[in-house]
Amino acid sequence: MNSRPIPKLMWGAATAAHQVEGNNTNNDWWAFEQAGRVRFPSALACDQYNRFREDFALLAKLGHNTHRFSVEWSRIEPRENEWNEAALDHYEEMLLELHRLGIEPVVTLHHFTNPIWFADKGGWLNPEAAAYFARFTRKVAERLKEHVRFWITINEPMVFLYHGYCTGLWPPGEKSFASAVKVLPNLVRAHVAAYREIHACYENPRREVWVSISKHMSAFSPFDPKSLKDRFFVFLRDWFFNHLFLEALMKGFLFFPGLYCEFLSSGPTLDYIGVNYYSRYFIKGTTKGGSTPLGVDSQDPSHPEHTKEQNFMGWEVYPDGLTKVLLSLKKYKRPVLISENGICASTDPQRESFIQRHVEAVQKAQRAGVPIWGYLYWSFLDNFEWAEGYGPRFGIVEVNYETQERKIRPSAYVLSEACRKWNEQILQSTDQNRS
Ligand code: GAL
Repeated sequence: MNSRPIPKLMWGAATAAHQVEGNNTNNDWWAFEQAGRVRFPSALACDQYNRFREDFALLAKLGHNTHRFSVEWSRIEPRENEWNEAALDHYEEMLLELHRLGIEPVVTLHHFTNPIWFADKGGWLNPEAAAYFARFTRKVAERLKEHVRFWITINEPMVFLYHGYCTGLWPPGEKSFASAVKVLPNLVRAHVAAYREIHACYENPRREVWVSISKHMSAFSPFDPKSLKDRFFVFLRDWFFNHLFLEALMKGFLFFPGLYCEFLSSGPTLDYIGVNYYSRYFIKGTTKGGSTPLGVDSQDPSHPEHTKEQNFMGWEVYPDGLTKVLLSLKKYKRPVLISENGICASTDPQRESFIQRHVEAVQKAQRAGVPIWGYLYWSFLDNFEWAEGYGPRFGIVEVNYETQERKIRPSAYVLSEACRKWNEQILQSTDQNRS
């Protein structure tokens, strides 16, 4: 199954289980929704659990050669150490279908949701959290290894930690930086343990495999470029939110001033770097009034440097920021896959232009020497946007939530066209290098 050559440019789109599958009744997000902690419940979502064949046919129609999706821990391990073989069969069927269509899967193991039994045991504050996650990873990797070469252990660990433990907007709904700082090393340990489990599964017989996280990276600018304090807090933000986790995985130890210095592994545990990029924040250098002691962020469109373009949720559209964050990854000397980049737009032409400009921003970084593997748009389908519910529409494919009808948006073709052209350029330049 995995003998097909890896595409020179991996391109396509991404989703996550809880946002598209529907009826994920066994996880902490579902419980949070039922308790009325967010305005809208996920309910049936896009019903992709039952409709994946019809959905994957659309991917093939659009020419995607790569697809990222996540497996749902709470379906696979609904009770501690009890395994639902039917759920594993289901994910295997999804993988077989992608391979049949010539599409390379990228599989995420943790995309924000946790089984209820795990949350009840203290979730990511439990010192055993990494061990639970490693056991789940072993089970999944053992079962699916014949069909998967690209894994993402944890999606956006710092965003998960920020909204789960600092803003309290997501489960478990805590507002305590002290708790967040306790969760951080557990997430790092969980990745390191999962990385080892996956590689161990691929040893005998040896199969090729690449393991990463999806790292959310934001662009940060000082609110007042003349203020030393604002500039210092931009440095702090960039270090804490963008690089701390990656550095821990590359260096094998986690250093957090005054709190930790922990050795985790003898070598790097990132085979490539998955990057999710959306927007930029202006940072004010104050410790008061924010959800963390790392300054206060704003996306105020009246800021003189703001591009004056926003998405449906008010995030600034800032393609240059993507080039900047990609350039900042050069030092890690790892290939980079854009594992998410996208827009919830009120009109599809805005999405078309967003895609065009962000693909160009990635190509710019590539020309400047960043080893880019590919680009995955967020998202394939309109879906459940966490605390924001079903209002924001990110999809290149529109979903009618009443009828579950899918409709390809024109921006989907813009993505295909931009990536096809880019792929041709890559093929031409490799030909030239050969001759
Ligand atoms: C990412 C997240 C996705 C999706 C997207 C759009 O942070 O991984 O699940 O929600 O943002 O907001």
